[in-house]
Amino acid sequence: MSPETRPPSPAPSALIRNWFSLVGLVIITGSVFSFILLFVLDAMFSASNPYLGLLTYVVAPGFFFFGAALVIGGVWLRRRKYSKSAAILPNIQIDLSRPRDRHLLGWFLFGSVVFLLLSAMGSYQTYHYTESVQFCGQACHTVMKPELVTYQHGPHARVACTECHIGKGATWFVRSKISGTYQLYAVAFDKYPRPVPTPIKNLRPAQETCEQCHWPSKFVGNMERTYNYYLSDESNSTWSISLLLKVGGGDPTHGPVGGIHWHMNIGRKVEYFASDESRQKIPWIRTTDKSGVVTEYRAKGFTNAIDPAAIRRMDCIDCHNRPAHKYQTPDDAVALAFSLNHLDPTIPWLKTNAVYALTRKYTNDTDAMQGIATLLASRYPGEPRITAAIDTVQQIYRDNFFPEMKASWRNYPENIGHKNWPGCFRCHDGNHFAADGKSMIKSDDCNACHTILSQGTGADLVKMTPAGQEFKHPGGDSDHDCTECHSGDL
Ligand code: HEC
Ligand code: HEC
Ligand code: HEC
Ligand code: HEC
Ligand code: HEC
Ligand code: HEC
Repeated sequence: MSPETRPPSPAPSALIRNWFSLVGLVIITGSVFSFILLFVLDAMFSASNPYLGLLTYVVAPGFFFFGAALVIGGVWLRRRKYSKSAAILPNIQIDLSRPRDRHLLGWFLFGSVVFLLLSAMGSYQTYHYTESVQFCGQACHTVMKPELVTYQHGPHARVACTECHIGKGATWFVRSKISGTYQLYAVAFDKYPRPVPTPIKNLRPAQETCEQCHWPSKFVGNMERTYNYYLSDESNSTWSISLLLKVGGGDPTHGPVGGIHWHMNIGRKVEYFASDESRQKIPWIRTTDKSGVVTEYRAKGFTNAIDPAAIRRMDCIDCHNRPAHKYQTPDDAVALAFSLNHLDPTIPWLKTNAVYALTRKYTNDTDAMQGIATLLASRYPGEPRITAAIDTVQQIYRDNFFPEMKASWRNYPENIGHKNWPGCFRCHDGNHFAADGKSMIKSDDCNACHTILSQGTGADLVKMTPAGQEFKHPGGDSDHDCTECHSGDL
C-alpha cells in the first residue's frame, strides 16, 4: 500500500470508542472515586484500621491500573483492526436536541451514580470486614482455630487481632502484608507449619501495640492471687497457695520503682541474648540505667562473644507472651474444673485419670472425643457420675488441644511464672552473675518476687503471714528448679 492510499489516522477519541476501553474508563472512574473516599476515611480516622491502607493504597490503585490497562488494550486492538481493514471508523455523535440522545445520556448518568455509590458501599464494607476478628480468625478456619478459640477465652477477647498483630501506621502494615501474602500461599498450597512457630519473629514491638492501651507508667503495686490445686492421689486432695505478687512499677513519678514491673521500658533498658529459637535459654543479659551505667550478667561458664544483631530488648511479650492465646496445661485446666464443681472431686483418682486421658496422643478431634470417653468409661465401670465427667474432660480438650494444628500447651511455653516452664528463671536461676560477682535475684529466694501469704489446706490455709512463709512443697522435698519435675501434666 502506498502512502497516498492509506486512509488518514483516526483521532484518538475514535480509537477509544470500543467496549474494552469504555469498561476500562468506568473502572478508572470507580477506582478514583473509591480512592478519594477511602483517602478521606483514612485521614479522618487516622490510622484507626490497618486494612484501610490496603484498600486505599493497594486495592484502589490496583483497579485504576487494571482499568488503564483495559483502555490501552482496547485502543491497541482497535488500532490493529483499523490498520488491517483500513476501514473508516464510525463516528458517534451526541446531539442533546435529540430526545433519544437525552434519554441515553440520562440513563448513562444514572447508571454511573449507582455504580459509584455501590463501589463506595462495597469499599466501606470490605474495610469493615477485613478489620474483623472473623476475617483473621475464621477465613482459613483450621489454621487459626487454636488461636481463635484460646483468644475467645482470654482477657483480650474483645480486642481485635489486628491491634496486636499489625498495630497502627504504614510500615508495619506493609510488612504484615508481605508476610500475609506468603501466608496466603502457604494456606492455599497446604505448606504452612504445624504448629505455627513462636516466638513470632516479626511481631511488632510492644511499645507500639500493648502500650497503646496499657499505660506502662502505671504503678500496680501488689496483686493477690490464690492458686488451687488438686493432688494426684485417691481423694484428689486440695492444696492451695496464696501469693502476693510484687508487681510494683517502673516509673518514679507514679510510685516507687521496683518489683516485677521494674523491667518495663521506662528509665532503663534490659537486653538479652537467647541461645535457642524459642528464647528459653538466656545465657547473657545487659541492663543500662538512666545515667548510662551498663551491667552485664552472664550464666556461669558462658564466655562467648555476643553478636549485636542477636540481642533483643526485653518488653511486655518476654513475660506476657500468652496474653491472648493461653493453652491451659492439663494440670491447671483439670484443677479449675474441680474448683468450679464441673468435675466431682469425690470420684476417686479422677485428677490422675482426667490428666491421663487428656495427654494421650490423638490424631483429630473426633478421635480425641472417643478416646477420652472410652478411656474414662473403662476406668469407672458402673459409676453413673462418670458421664458428666467425660463431658467436662472433652470440653477441656476442645478448648485447649488442637491436634490438627499440633497446638497445645506442649508447643507454646508461657514465660510469666516458673513452675511449668523456665519463665522468670531463665534469668533468675541463681546462676547468672555480673562481672563483679554480683548475683541477680535468685530462684531460691521464694519471697523476692512474691510473698507466700498462706499455703496448704484446711486450717493451715487460713493462717496468713504478711511477712511471707517458707514454701511447703506438696510433692515432698524438691529443689527450686521446678521444671525438672513439673511440665503441666503432673
Ligand atoms: C492482646 C494481643 C493479641 C491479640 C488480641 C491477638 N493476639 Fe495473636 N498473639 C499475641 C502474642 C503476644 C503472641 C505470641 C507471640 C510470640 O510468642 O512471639 C500471639 C501469637 C499468635 C499466633 C502464633 C501461634 C500461637 O498460638 O502463639 C497466631 C497464629 C495468632 N497469634 C493469631 C491471632 C488471631 C487470629 C487473633 C484474633 C482472633 C489474635 N492472634 C489476637 C497477641 C495477640
Ligand atoms: C486494644 C487495647 C489493648 C491492647 C492492644 C492490649 N490490651 Fe491488654 N488488656 C486490654 C483490656 C481492655 C484489658 C482488661 C480486660 C478486663 O479486665 O476485662 C487487658 C488486660 C490485660 C492484662 C491483664 C490480664 C488479666 O489476666 O487480667 C494483661 C497482662 C495484658 N492486658 C497484657 C497485654 C499485652 C502484653 C499486650 C500486647 C501484646 C496487650 N495487653 C495489648 C486492652 C488491650
Ligand atoms: C518481667 C516480666 C514482666 C514484664 C516485662 C511486664 N510484665 Fe506485666 N506483669 C508481670 C507479672 C508477673 C504480673 C502479675 C500478674 C500475673 O502474673 O499475671 C503482671 C501484671 C500485669 C498486668 C495486670 C495488672 C493490672 O494492672 O491489672 C498488666 C495489665 C500488665 N502486667 C501489663 C504489662 C505491660 C503492658 C507490659 C509492657 C509494657 C508488661 N506488663 C511488662 C510481669 C511482667
Ligand atoms: C531477660 C532476663 C530476665 C527475665 C526473663 C526476668 N528478669 Fe527480672 N531482672 C532481670 C535483671 C537483669 C534484673 C536486675 C538485677 C536484679 O536485681 O536481679 C532483674 C530484676 C528483677 C527484680 C528486682 C527489681 C527491683 O526491685 O530492683 C524482680 C522483682 C524481678 N526481676 C522479677 C522477675 C520476674 C517475676 C520475672 C518473670 C515474670 C523476671 N524477673 C524475668 C532480668 C530478667
Ligand atoms: C524471679 C521471681 C520469682 C522467684 C524468685 C520465685 N517466684 Fe514463684 N512466681 C513468680 C511469678 C511471677 C509467679 C506468677 C505466675 C503467674 O502469672 O501465675 C509465680 C508463681 C508461683 C507459684 C504458682 C505457680 C502456678 O503457676 O501454679 C508458686 C507455687 C510459686 N511461684 C512458688 C515459688 C517458690 C517455691 C519459689 C522459691 C523456690 C519461687 N516461687 C520463687 C516469680 C518468682
Ligand atoms: C523433684 C521433683 C519436683 C520438683 C523439683 C518440684 N516439684 Fe512440685 N511437685 C512434685 C510432685 C511429685 C508433686 C505432687 C503431684 C501431685 O500429687 O499432684 C508436686 C506438687 C506440686 C504442687 C501442687 C500440685 C499441682 O498440681 O501442681 C505445686 C504447686 C508444686 N508442686 C510447686 C512446685 C514449685 C513451685 C516448684 C519449684 C520451686 C516445684 N514444685 C518443684 C515434684 C516436684
